[in-house]
Amino acid sequence: MGSELLEKARTFERENTKKVEEAKRPGFHLSVQVGWMNDPNGFSYYNGEYHLFYQYHPYASYWGPMHWGHAVSKDLLHWRYLPAALAPDESYDKDGCFSGSAVEMDDGRHLLMYTGVVEEELPDGTKKGVQTQCVAIGDGVNYEKYEGNPVIDESQLPEGGDRFEFRDPRIWKAEDGTYRCVAGNCDGDRDGQILLYSSKDALHWNFEKILLRNHDRFGKMWECPDFFELDGKQVLLTSPQDMLPQGFEYHNGNGTVCFIGTYDEETDTFHEEHNQAIDYGIDFYAPQTVLTPDGRRIMIGWMQNWDTCNLYTFKEPWFGQMSLPRELSVKNGRLIQKPIRELEELRHDKVVYENVTLKDTTIRLDGIKGRRVDMELTLRPGDEEKLYQKFWVRFAQDEKYFTSLSFRPHESLLKVDRKFSGSRRAIIHQRRSLVRSDKGQIKLRIILDNFSMEVFVNDGEHVMAATVHTDLSADGISFVADGAVTMDIVKYNL
Ligand code: FRU
Repeated sequence: MGSELLEKARTFERENTKKVEEAKRPGFHLSVQVGWMNDPNGFSYYNGEYHLFYQYHPYASYWGPMHWGHAVSKDLLHWRYLPAALAPDESYDKDGCFSGSAVEMDDGRHLLMYTGVVEEELPDGTKKGVQTQCVAIGDGVNYEKYEGNPVIDESQLPEGGDRFEFRDPRIWKAEDGTYRCVAGNCDGDRDGQILLYSSKDALHWNFEKILLRNHDRFGKMWECPDFFELDGKQVLLTSPQDMLPQGFEYHNGNGTVCFIGTYDEETDTFHEEHNQAIDYGIDFYAPQTVLTPDGRRIMIGWMQNWDTCNLYTFKEPWFGQMSLPRELSVKNGRLIQKPIRELEELRHDKVVYENVTLKDTTIRLDGIKGRRVDMELTLRPGDEEKLYQKFWVRFAQDEKYFTSLSFRPHESLLKVDRKFSGSRRAIIHQRRSLVRSDKGQIKLRIILDNFSMEVFVNDGEHVMAATVHTDLSADGISFVADGAVTMDIVKYNL
């Protein structure tokens, strides 16, 4: 089974993976085995394992004709690569197999639903991809594209729906055993909208309605939707392009939005109540979720952002990694994200410090260093009379380089800054998030995995992710205070 193009990709990855040095990759975050990776795709639990596919260009460490790469895991931290699952080898997807999702069918087969792209020449001579939705069915390793593809095309768009901006189907099985899917689209004004479709067999689809419209609030095109029930609420995730900033909540460019509300299944109506950014750092996009057998909703995003992809010089044979799997919950109208609890199994070499006070100084502590680290810092003022001005934790540090997280209690702002991480590109290196803190008290759980940092603030109220490409020999960690800060530290190597 498999076309020549798919065989070519499978042979290429078999022969070239060995060239990537294991120690120079992320340890427990899924990264691409060779070539380029973007969005997570087809995140599902199938035949006793988690399957995570991804947007994949095996032949170079930059974006190109999209394939689907494939990896499986029992705990979402130890990954085993499987051969590439899809190649752009059919007339209806010859210019790319774009993002999509997966579901187990009633007969036990695994169904992938993805966007097929076919370029069309426009009157001005430029090319643009027409996007339709397609399916492929398989056994968890090999997939056969359905002969009736595409299963949703422009004839099932609402009036004004843009056939060039119509992608990333997210399929699920409804309570009544039928299938639903949501997809991203733009209306005639290039304003984002999420479309809802239904099907009895996952092959023949009907357009139901526009589930949610942007109304010019969050960017333009809405990519990569996900839609699920959580803690008695309904959650819609999407990744808008071309955002305008809004305070410290949303930043320019490609962003992420989480809508929390209610869903009436009878009428397929979503009532939006709250919205927020999903990640407040630099590198996070296009997240997808899976429901675990024990009922947890786990989210993984692409730990990168289109606007910052030119950070590196592509000298490595790989580019792209996923975020840590995050356990989601909804509390008081907010999305809470925690590192997946399985991460605790990876911890070793515990180091604890209590009541360490630093005042207008920089310190290093015995046993506190490394690039694969799980470290919880609990901060409070070191002086009851006077709130400190600023606190920094620096990591991936040597004599020349470091990346920092800094906290200003007066403004309650947490900032990630990788300006001094060794990058030679003038791109976004800093981002700030308005977090909750009470009189200078705050809790930061920092996860480092060779080339990334994710910080979970106050048990998951805010999360910031950033990739860091400093040489792995820079493994120092230091703490700096302007004013007096007292901290407790619990640190493990991972
Ligand atoms: C989001 C995205 C998707 C698309 C894919 C192409 O990052 O633009 O909308 O399907 O990447 O690789």
